[in-house]
Formats: sequence, structure tokens, C-alpha cells
Amino acid sequence: TPETEPPKKGDVFVFAEGDKKGEEITFDDLPKGGPFVLAFPKDPKTGVIKNGERNNMVLLIRLDPAELSPETAEYAADGTVAYSAICTHLGCTVSDWVADKGDLLCPCHKGIYDPRQGAKVVGGPPPRPLPALPIQTEGNKPVCAGGFTSPVGVVAGLEPQGGSC
Ligand code: FES
Repeated sequence: TPETEPPKKGDVFVFAEGDKKGEEITFDDLPKGGPFVLAFPKDPKTGVIKNGERNNMVLLIRLDPAELSPETAEYAADGTVAYSAICTHLGCTVSDWVADKGDLLCPCHKGIYDPRQGAKVVGGPPPRPLPALPIQTEGNKPVCAGGFTSPVGVVAGLEPQGGSC
């Protein structure tokens, strides 16, 4: 169904939760330096919000462009980057923000990712970075510039050994 299609170039983003759930996200909604906002893509032509597939959830964060690694800057617009919100460890939602470090935290097993360095793992058990979703600017909005840079969620062969949560 259209609600489960993956994000594609030109999609806008809407709030995934909270008071503004379903409303389109502009740069003004993203505080500089974080925290991030959980979002789903929306096809601006059909108006369909792609929230029928959990793997479409992303976190949008606006950072200082000078702090981004070269690889991260390639996917960013105005310092704003988007990453899959699905933890690469066991698939929980990366929902917490480490304010003093500016890092992304998965509450399930304290997986920590650095959004300035391609969401590389800086703590806890996740086996690989969060996939990035390239961003471009359209007017006052961050929009999708292409598909995820790597598979979303738990990848077979990279699960932790010996049990699960
Ligand atoms: Fe995220 Fe385990 S599911 S750290």
C-alpha cells in the first residue's frame, strides 16, 4: 500500500508523534543542536503519510554544519541530517537524546550513536551505524533526497550471539 512504501526523493516529513503529529516539519521546528524529532515521510503529491511501515521512521536533527564529518555533510542540508530511528541492535526505536553529548540513545540496551559522524556507534551493543536518509532543502523544509544508505534495522548475520531481549 502507499502507506508502506519506502521514502523517496521529494518526500516531505511529518511529526511521528506528539501535539503536531501528522504536521509537516520545517527547519523552524528543528532546534539547532538538537534534540531530534521523530518523523515519517509524506508524499507531497498524494498527501499519503508513509507510517504504515515502522522501518520508515526517521529522526531528523539540525546540527552545526561545521561539526559534521565529511561523509555526514554529504547527506545533510543546512546541517540537518536524517537517520533511521530503528536501532541496528534489536530494532527498538532510538527515542532518547543525550543532551550533554549531543548523541542519540536507544533505551533498550543503551546503544549510543553520534549524529555528527554518520551515526556511528559510540556506545552499547549495536553492530553498525544507523542508516542515513539523504536530505535536501525545499523552501523552508527538509525533504528527502534519496533512499536509505544501508538496510534499515536488524541485518541477518549481524545480530548479537546468544539470546535476545
Ligand atoms: Fe537498541 Fe538493543 S535494541 S541497543
